[in-house]
Amino acid sequence: MLELTPELKERLLAASLAARAHSHSPYSRYQVGAAILDEQGRIHVGANIENAAYPQGWCAEATALGAMVMAGGREAKAVLVSGPGPNVITPCGGCRQKLREFATAELLILAADPGGIRQQWTLGELLPHSFGPDHLKF
Ligand code: THU
Repeated sequence: MLELTPELKERLLAASLAARAHSHSPYSRYQVGAAILDEQGRIHVGANIENAAYPQGWCAEATALGAMVMAGGREAKAVLVSGPGPNVITPCGGCRQKLREFATAELLILAADPGGIRQQWTLGELLPHSFGPDHLKF
């Protein structure tokens, strides 16, 4: 499993919290940031972007994944999601599946709030028995 150095964790945390400041969340007022480490060692960020037509909003992880793909990244190695606390944020079900498209079960998912990193899982733990690209090779 991927081991992140303390320095890399700090960079991901800083990037995620900086992205969180760009959250457009006037309806829930629940600001979320995401920072994805790709297979080239680059970090891509995103925030949640809500919409007056509520179901049209999307999550921070989706913004960051879009940024990664548009930069040519093809595999997420780690993602740090930051929320307001005090409850530890975890990626929603839809985002777990979105991440699955560009990651293995080893993907590290770190949860943080402005006070720091609170918890860590793998994608395999949060989305066991997942449906992925290999299923379409039939
Ligand atoms: N949200 C995220 O951006 N990521 C998550 O993992 C959980 C939820 C956003 C969606 C919505 O804008 C707000 O948080 C409240 O649900």
